[in-house]
Amino acid sequence: MAKQGGEGRGSGKVILLGEHAVVHGVPAIAVGLDRGAIAHARLLEGGPSELVIGGWSTKADDPSDLGLAFSSLLAKTETLAPVQVVAETALLASAGLGCSAALGVAITRALLDLRGEAKSADEVASLALAFEGPFHGTPSGIDTALAAQGGCLRFQRREEGPSIEVIALPSPLALAIGHTGRPASTRTMVEAVSALRAREPGLVDQAFRGTSALVDRAHRALISGDYRALGALLDEGQRLLSLLQVSTDEIETLCELARAHGALGAKLTGAGGGGCVIALVEGSPDPILEAWSRAGFSGFSTTISPSDEAR
Ligand code: PMV
Repeated sequence: MAKQGGEGRGSGKVILLGEHAVVHGVPAIAVGLDRGAIAHARLLEGGPSELVIGGWSTKADDPSDLGLAFSSLLAKTETLAPVQVVAETALLASAGLGCSAALGVAITRALLDLRGEAKSADEVASLALAFEGPFHGTPSGIDTALAAQGGCLRFQRREEGPSIEVIALPSPLALAIGHTGRPASTRTMVEAVSALRAREPGLVDQAFRGTSALVDRAHRALISGDYRALGALLDEGQRLLSLLQVSTDEIETLCELARAHGALGAKLTGAGGGGCVIALVEGSPDPILEAWSRAGFSGFSTTISPSDEAR
């Protein structure tokens, strides 16, 4: 029976290594953020269903990307009765922090909760992919996996469903996250990499093989708590992402500033073309955040703690 109201949450994420390659079946490693999205759902007397995000309303029959995302999620979750969903997020949109996935997971959980259903994190992530389509085109699923589960995950897209492994961190992982100030469309960037692969398959496949090797080494570095080794791998990951032509001048500047102010390594995170960079921090993140601020970039710091595993 339907309840008075349903509530759901989803986490933001940053990809440590493997963005873009993960769309093409290469494994990637990402961590959940302690900021994300929350959604509340209630039944309406009549349709169409409505989604309100940050006070901005979209109807399910709206032909915008958001309207399409909402209507395809309603269909996927078999939500037949008209509903109003009110969602909020603390994540910057189009910044590589998994904002749409956090919203998709939060809304999915709120819709399920409204009818008294609870599903596993894997099932929620799979349903929430319906919300990602209009923004991502061909989402790998890594964002919704992290949004649903948090922690530190190794993720690999496969035909029969993703392979997801929880990585237990032996000690806290501290990151500074800097924003280029430019939003970027994930769908456009993913399409650009696919187009580059069609033109230069040798170059792109070599970058993907290199990424796969980096992900294996990063997995070992994370398990053993060797964050200095991990930092060098992030720098190498950034070099491979530049080869894929998804880096920008602002991204390179943010990474260089971070390295010059004590970061163990730095790279773009997410689709690139703008969005955010991550810097692996040893000690205080303040010198990096201050250097970014002096150069006109905003940023924040976060710590992924071992207790965040497999929430
Ligand atoms: O949505 P973003 O910008 O966090 O990027 C997600 C990572 C990509 O590998 C570029 C796309 C995907 O679906 O995995």
